[in-house]
Amino acid sequence: MLLFFENEARMAQRIAQAAGQPCSQVHCHQFPDGEIRLQLPADLPAQVTILRTLNRPNAKLVELLLAAQTARTLGARHLTLVAPYLAYMRQDIAFHAGEAISQRVIGDFLATLFDAIVTVDPHLHRVASLREAVPVANAITLSGAPALSDWIVSRRKQPVLLGPDEESAQWVACAAARHELEHAVCHKVRQGDRAVDVKLPKTEFSDREVVLLDDVASTGTTVAQAARLLLAAGASRVDVAVTHALLDDHAMLALHQAGVGEVWSTDCIEHPSNAVSMAPAIADAIRSLQANLHGK
Ligand code: R5P
Repeated sequence: MLLFFENEARMAQRIAQAAGQPCSQVHCHQFPDGEIRLQLPADLPAQVTILRTLNRPNAKLVELLLAAQTARTLGARHLTLVAPYLAYMRQDIAFHAGEAISQRVIGDFLATLFDAIVTVDPHLHRVASLREAVPVANAITLSGAPALSDWIVSRRKQPVLLGPDEESAQWVACAAARHELEHAVCHKVRQGDRAVDVKLPKTEFSDREVVLLDDVASTGTTVAQAARLLLAAGASRVDVAVTHALLDDHAMLALHQAGVGEVWSTDCIEHPSNAVSMAPAIADAIRSLQANLHGK
């Protein structure tokens, strides 16, 4: 059974339909003081999957704590977390003395609650595998890059795929290889939450259609800065494709003011830019986990 929260009903239905499995809502009441009361279906099967995408994560982590522990008391013996967007992956070392290594803390926390995790393009930089970040028995990483690549070539002819920083190289290379597209990455130095220095690679962008591709866009500062440089270098148009669109209205406005044409994303986070769905891939991952459990 797939359990979901109210504001992710659409994604849950897409996944449940693709997996051919039932889904059921976790009801959540917020008390005036901010505490919450959760109610799960009273009879749970042995295998339960909880869907919670972890943008704006802090309150959701408490929901997961309550939901996972309650699911166990209601009969779930194997619990999988499907977190299409997995938060707190960027802080993977202490950049300054005394800083929390959030990736390790949150990863360990989730591993105490769940036996398996499925996520999409987690921001793993200095850590090689998802299982190192979230030490569960089964950790499945999917990627939005192939589906975004298919979408891009259906909309643009022979675009250049450009990653706005070195960390995006893995996703850009994957998307480019799928359709033999020219690709490169920029050099980026982050100066603050909303300040980055981006340097374009030595690629010829004049009169080319360029798609900036990354795992995540948040304030939009990174891709906006890259778009400005590309247009100044003669690019005929610049569009943006990201797996995770954390972008709020202000960020979307900043992108368009920088000259970005269209913004495309996966449905890992519900957003007006959603163009491709990860539900079929997530459903396959759930089915393969269950097949493993049954020894098939
Ligand atoms: C970090 O390295 C990520 O890949 C993104 O480039 C970053 O999170 C984007 O953040 P923002 O949109 O706020 O510049």
